[in-house]
Amino acid sequence: NYYAVIMAGGIGSRFWPISTRDFPKQFHDMLGTGETLLQKTFSRLNKIIPSENIFILTNDSYLEITLKQLPQISEEQVILEPAMRNTAPCILLSALKIKKQNENAIMLVAPSDHWIEDENAFQVDVISCFEAAQKDEKLLTLGIEPTFPNTGYGYIESEKENLSEIKHVKQFREKPDYETAKKFLAEGNFLWNAGIFIWSVKSIINSFEKYLPEMASIFENGIEVLNTSEEKKFISENYEKAENISIDYGILEKANNVFVKKASFDWNDLGTWGALHEKLQKDEAENAVVNALHHLKNASGNMIYTTSGKLVVIDGLIDFIIVDKKDVLMLFPKKKEQEIKQLLNELSEKF
Ligand code: GDD
Ligand code: MG
Repeated sequence: NYYAVIMAGGIGSRFWPISTRDFPKQFHDMLGTGETLLQKTFSRLNKIIPSENIFILTNDSYLEITLKQLPQISEEQVILEPAMRNTAPCILLSALKIKKQNENAIMLVAPSDHWIEDENAFQVDVISCFEAAQKDEKLLTLGIEPTFPNTGYGYIESEKENLSEIKHVKQFREKPDYETAKKFLAEGNFLWNAGIFIWSVKSIINSFEKYLPEMASIFENGIEVLNTSEEKKFISENYEKAENISIDYGILEKANNVFVKKASFDWNDLGTWGALHEKLQKDEAENAVVNALHHLKNASGNMIYTTSGKLVVIDGLIDFIIVDKKDVLMLFPKKKEQEIKQLLNELSEKF
C-alpha cells in the first residue's frame, strides 16, 4: 500500500550556473558522489517502497533526463506538468493518479533535492508515519529541530504537553517574517517543516476538496490509471487553470489534522552554495572542492565546483563560491549567495 512521489520540477536558481532551467540541480551530482540528487532520493525511498510504486512529478521538458537517470522506472511513473504551478496542483494530480491504482494507498511526498545523512533513521521515521497514516485521516509532516530564525522554511508548532512520538500540530506557519521566526525559536516547541509529507490518498484528496475546492473540481474527472493520450490532453487543457500555490500555504496552514514526527535524521535542504559547502567534507582551511584537481594557498572557506576538468589554482581568496563549467566562470562572495537569484535576472536581460 505504500507509494512515494518525488517532486522534481523546481529550477534551483540559487545554484546557478550549475543549475539551469534546462538542467536544474536535482539532475546534477551536487555532492560529487557519482549520483545525482534525484537518484539519491530515489534509492533512499526504494529501500522501503517498491520501485514500481515511486512516481516522479516534473515538468514536461524533463521527461527525457528523468528516464535517463532512473532507468528502473517506466514512463507511466513520470507524471508530467505542462506548466509550473508550485506544489499543490502537482501533489493533487499525483494523489488522484495513485488513488486510481489503489484506493487505500498511503503516499509519501518528498522533494528531490535534499541532503539526508542517516538513511536508516530516515526509513524508521517514515515507516512509523506510514503506520500512523494508515490508521486515520492524518496529514503527517517530518519536523527538524531549528537552529536559527530561517525565514525560508515552514514552522510547525506542536503541543508542548504532548509526549507521544507523533504530535498534533497546533499551528503551521509557512515562511514567517524574521521577527516571528525569532519568537518561534524562543518558544521552544517549534520545528522546521522538512517538506516531506505522509498521508493516505483519501485524506489528502478530502483536504483539497475542503481547502482548495476549485482546484479539486478542476481535476475531479480526467485522471486515469495509465498515462493515456486522453489524459494528456485533459492535463494540458486544464493544468494552467489551477491556482499557483504551494501545499504549505494551500493546505497545511489551514487543516486541523496536521501531525508532526520529529525527525531523527540530519537534514539540509541544499538550497544554496553555502548550504552545500556546510555539508561537504572540507580541507583544514574549510575549502570544499567538488570535481577538481586543485592547488590552494592562502585560500579558506571557499566552495569550489567545476565540471570543466580544469586544474584550479588559487592564492589569496577567502569565502568565495567558485564555479567553472564549459561556458561560465563565476566568482561570487559566499555571503551574498542569496543574490544569485537576482543576478540571474540581470544576466537574462543582458545575454
Ligand atoms: N513537480 C514540481 N512542480 N515540483 C516543484 C514545483 C512544481 O511546480 N515547484 C517546486 N517543486 C519542488 C522543488 O523542486 C522542491 O523539491 C520542492 O518541490 C519544494 O519546493 P521549493 O520551492 O524548494 O519550496 P521551499 O523550499 O520554498 O519551501 C518548502 O520546503 C521547505 C524545506 O525545504 C516548504 O515545504 C517549507 O515549508 C519547507 O520548510
Ligand atoms: Mg526548497
